[in-house]
Amino acid sequence: MEKQLSQTRSTNPFRPGSGILPPLLAGRDRETAVLESRATRTREGHPQHTALLGEWAIGKTTLLMHWRRLRRAAGDAVVLSMAYPQAADEFLSSLVGAIDAENKPERAERLDLEFGLDVGIAEARIRRPSRDTEHELRAALKRLVERRGGEDRSVLVLIDDVDLLPAPGDLLLRLRACALELYAADLPVAIVVSASPGLFSGVRSAHEPLVRFFEPITVGPLQAADAARALTEPLAGTGVRFDPDVVDEIVELASGRPYYLQKLGYFTFDAATDGRVAGSQFAIGFERAFASVSQEIFVARWSAMSPIDREVVVVLARSAEPRPSGDIEAEVARRGVRPGATRQSLRRLAARGHIDRLTNGHRGRYTLRDRLFRRFLDLQHGSEA
Ligand SMILES: Nc1ncnc2c1ncn2[C@@H]1O[C@H](COP(=O)(O)OP(=O)(O)OP(=O)(O)O)[C@@H](O)[C@H]1O
Ligand SMILES: [Mg+2]
Repeated sequence: MEKQLSQTRSTNPFRPGSGILPPLLAGRDRETAVLESRATRTREGHPQHTALLGEWAIGKTTLLMHWRRLRRAAGDAVVLSMAYPQAADEFLSSLVGAIDAENKPERAERLDLEFGLDVGIAEARIRRPSRDTEHELRAALKRLVERRGGEDRSVLVLIDDVDLLPAPGDLLLRLRACALELYAADLPVAIVVSASPGLFSGVRSAHEPLVRFFEPITVGPLQAADAARALTEPLAGTGVRFDPDVVDEIVELASGRPYYLQKLGYFTFDAATDGRVAGSQFAIGFERAFASVSQEIFVARWSAMSPIDREVVVVLARSAEPRPSGDIEAEVARRGVRPGATRQSLRRLAARGHIDRLTNGHRGRYTLRDRLFRRFLDLQHGSEA
């Protein structure tokens, strides 16, 4: 029994985490097709740039890594870089380092290893920012095009989490200026940045030109059928099987969030007895997955919330149906919160992806679809009441 347990552990195919390639990349065909058609346009001399927008843990980094792999296989030079909370200048200079690293053939081999973080970047980050980073960036990209690009090739620059920078609008404007110059010089370079859905509303003044330049691709929850595949296909050959009810329940609980799928899949796999997961094993797996997500995400989220945000999420967690803003304002007002403050809180929470805003008509209705977060709030509230 014990032996079997450790054996199943060692073959657990699920990969809960951030920026970790899943055992099966489910869905994302539509998004990838759009990217591919833009890549074709880029190679034809009409670069198209992209903002990949999606909520926390929805699979942005994973998709960027997938695209990197695809475009490399097609012969493009690809640079994947991650933004940090740092000044735009500093970031651009680290990007130059990453591009130069890609230029070195032996480094390029190493970069093919699918680590979340590129090896070149950590090193490049300690370089001092230069006077004219844009100039350096253009020069580095030009070198890369000349070296790796050809008739039917192009260079793809992927930048993850641009909204971690304190002024993402500034960076985007500078990237745009750089891309336009490269375009004028006939160099086929396309840029993809990833961020949360609020990226463009956060850079108001530059909103118009930027949203047209970095054309959004929105990545959302997985369809139920794709989510089910993400669970069942990786099980093939592991000797472990989840009962169909269990698969359905995980799909339902995860509501398309790939991070939840990986978490639930991982702990459920470990709870198997004799290679099988039925309801009673799943109950154990679920508790462990829930505890893990709570610890990783919910505890910090809750403690970072203002008292008003807390009132609002707790109220939302109690009703199964989406409710109009006015309704929620009235209920929270009974606890002494001004309606205006509640409205602001609703918008803020929705922008962060903590609650859902349904938009049919201009009067939004709000709900909390996330079943795991709901459960956390129920427990939280229960213990506070
Ligand atoms: N299409 C997918 N199919 C299956 N699993 C996926 C898919 N996309 C992402 N995952 C898994 O979901 C988890 C979160 O993915 P990822 O880190 O790419 O999200 P993110 O949007 O970059 O999140 P963050 O907010 O941390 O930046 C990872 O464990 C990843 O392996
Ligand atoms: Mg990410």
